[in-house]
Amino acid sequence: MVSSPQTSPKRPRVFSGIQPSGALHLGNLLGANLRWVTEQDRSDAVFCVVDLHALTTPKAPGEIGQASLELATNLFAVGLDPDKCVFFVQSTVPQHAELAWVMQTVTAFGELSRMTQFKEKRGRAESGDGFISAGLFTYPALMAADILLYDTTEVPVGDDQGQHVELTRDAANRFNSRYGETFVIPQATLPLAGARVMDLQAPNNKMSKSTETEAGIINLSDSPAAITKKFKRAVTDSETEVRFDVAAKPGVSNLLSILGAATGQTPEAAAVGIERYGDLKAATAEAVVELLTPIQARVAELQADPGEVRRRLALGTERATAQATDVMDRVWDRLGTLRA
Ligand code: TYM
Repeated sequence: MVSSPQTSPKRPRVFSGIQPSGALHLGNLLGANLRWVTEQDRSDAVFCVVDLHALTTPKAPGEIGQASLELATNLFAVGLDPDKCVFFVQSTVPQHAELAWVMQTVTAFGELSRMTQFKEKRGRAESGDGFISAGLFTYPALMAADILLYDTTEVPVGDDQGQHVELTRDAANRFNSRYGETFVIPQATLPLAGARVMDLQAPNNKMSKSTETEAGIINLSDSPAAITKKFKRAVTDSETEVRFDVAAKPGVSNLLSILGAATGQTPEAAAVGIERYGDLKAATAEAVVELLTPIQARVAELQADPGEVRRRLALGTERATAQATDVMDRVWDRLGTLRA
């Protein structure tokens, strides 16, 4: 029997994904991944290493698999628990690619053209080898498929993914009005602080895997000494007042956001009692070191046992497939394709 979308489930249903490209950085952690860990306890949570998304920029043979294993290892170390959530690699559940095609048919060319991330990535590709894949353009339809396959109600992401979640909502509503009630309409959820962690050297740009200068990025694997040094050299401004004001004081505000996110408070609350830039930098570095050190220890443990990481991922694939098959059957049923 074909299932119906549960529009008001008892527990929130959460889905989110991350690309296996480049090292896991502080922006990922504060914007999304640390919240994934808390979501496991309050929701039915599904998380995914989105390797198909990463293929939109060229990869060497085998590179994607290795990067997926490393990223999954890191995320188990951050705290994902296979007994509490479903966590798997996207390409192992073929319904993602299947539904992505269907979502492309209800997504407009004009909508995709307006995506900020596409425009940025296109710019980078043009100044690199000049190759812009069609996948880079249709990428948000795959992201919509990821989310919609699990009857998701909430999508914990950083601020930069908000536009893609909006597009998902529009495409899902369009499908529902053309073919009848099929998809649950999801919404993005943002953290209290850290929704947009900026580059420490260029605080008007977001911290990103594709940035060239390492000095602006805190990676999960950075040593305490490296973290302290990067915060010490973080760009601030020529004033002296510690105040949260993103437009006027982007560097200081970024440090306050990071400190707030790392200590579970708003940036404004994090500013209380800090008078000097030097103290702010030291306090932020200390909070980040405290946050990352235990995660790094668990990464080391798990790296020694890649078989265990694969075993956990296989379990995730099995569970995700059961859910995705159910929703995909519903999609074919609503479309009315010939199922002979
Ligand atoms: P990705 O892989 O670029 O980033 C993973 C998550 O990290 C967040 N993030 C940040 N948050 C705050 N400050 C930053 N500087 C920062 N940089 C990254 C991102 O917002 C994201 O939550 N398209 C997505 C992956 C994806 C996905 C999905 C997400 C594919 N399908 C379905 C949610 C639901 C991406 O490229 O994220």
